[in-house]
Amino acid sequence: MNILLLGSGGREHAMAWKMTQSHHCDKLFIAPGNPGTALIGTNVIIALTDFEAIQNFCLEQNIDIVVVGPEEPLVKGITDFLTATNNNKKWNGIVVGPSANAAQLEGSKAFSKAFMKRHQIPTAGYAEFTLNNFEEGKKYIAQHSLPVVLKADGLAAGKGVVISETHDEALQVFESMIVDKQFGEASSKVVIEEFLKGIEVSVFVLTNGKDYQIIGHAKDYKRIGEGDTGLNTGGMGCVTPVPFMDELFMQKVESKIIQPTVDGLEKENFIYNGFIFFGLMNCNGEPYVIEYNCRLGDPETEVVLPRLETDLVSLFAAMDNGTLADTNITFHEGSFATVMAVSGGYPQDYEKNKIIHLPDAKTNDSLIFHAGTKQNEAGELVTNGGRVLAVTSQSDTITLAVEKSKAVLEKISFEGMYYRRDIGWEF
Ligand code: AMP
Ligand code: GLY
Repeated sequence: MNILLLGSGGREHAMAWKMTQSHHCDKLFIAPGNPGTALIGTNVIIALTDFEAIQNFCLEQNIDIVVVGPEEPLVKGITDFLTATNNNKKWNGIVVGPSANAAQLEGSKAFSKAFMKRHQIPTAGYAEFTLNNFEEGKKYIAQHSLPVVLKADGLAAGKGVVISETHDEALQVFESMIVDKQFGEASSKVVIEEFLKGIEVSVFVLTNGKDYQIIGHAKDYKRIGEGDTGLNTGGMGCVTPVPFMDELFMQKVESKIIQPTVDGLEKENFIYNGFIFFGLMNCNGEPYVIEYNCRLGDPETEVVLPRLETDLVSLFAAMDNGTLADTNITFHEGSFATVMAVSGGYPQDYEKNKIIHLPDAKTNDSLIFHAGTKQNEAGELVTNGGRVLAVTSQSDTITLAVEKSKAVLEKISFEGMYYRRDIGWEF
């Protein structure tokens, strides 16, 4: 099968790496990809939101499967576009990624909260407000327990959630979101919700909107500083399997969260072929949904896919032909850890274009996934983002896997490079 993967981060490098292991993968194209994906497939320059160009490419190159990495094209309707007739042209292939309607599970916090309420899926209590009931919202906040969580309804590049320790701060945030439109349209509606105390974990599912398979889970480390301190980032590292995500906890996740979510999608006739990323809070052994994402996570994918033994391309075919429920999911033995190397200054301002020195790939069995890298005009590999490289290793324990990744990171260098040395500290 010929595959087109959309995206350019560490997640996409890991997806590309996993798909090229499959004997069902003939040609792999990545749009736009990065220098890491260029090593295992063909990068093509197409903008992720140029749906017409993507459709033309699929027709010209006889693409069988389009795998959508990030959320933006999904929320903007790429799946609906590629499965429809446009300008009298129809491409007949599989898209891995939900329809725009179903992608609102990620694209609108208010939508996802209402969905969870309709299907009795455990989540934090909440209320939603716009400019129309702004005064009511202020009263709601003033009486709310602390901390209180404010969320811009729409996509806000991961910055739309604020956890306030004081009512004054919460009221200021509320005003800047709704009145000053801090995130534009995305914050014209705000969800205010209870703070859940617990440990955050993620579970990844592939579904056809009827059946599903769990393809992995992970715990990620969001803060920039060691000891889980400092600013939030997109993720500084991940581990899997997570010791406390034992059979009992996973049974609860399935019966209280995954099954009702998939049943809810089916009952409400959503077209959903793709991944669901369940962002969960483990509150004293009880799982609650913090958020849904309609895609895989980054850097979670870099740890989840190396552990997954099952052929990913076969899973996509099974998702499409109705045999997903009969597929057998298997995992590699041992523990996996990803440690992320980031640019100095990240998640605040940082410089790009720093020359990256990588060790000889043959010196270890760890995987180095490119996230924010590019090739400069001289053909050198340079930094091109906050999160630059993800190093994934497997070993008998989480601690040993982290040590292995750190040993590889010792041999990687670029000016200002930083990574957390304490990923997996609690295990
Ligand atoms: P989200 O964009 O919904 O993933 O929120 C970003 C982060 O805010 C999450 O990963 C959590 O760490 C935190 N968060 C969101 N909602 C809550 C909540 N209700 N209680 C505690 N933490 C939360
Ligand atoms: N690592 C969190 C995300 O991909 O949304």
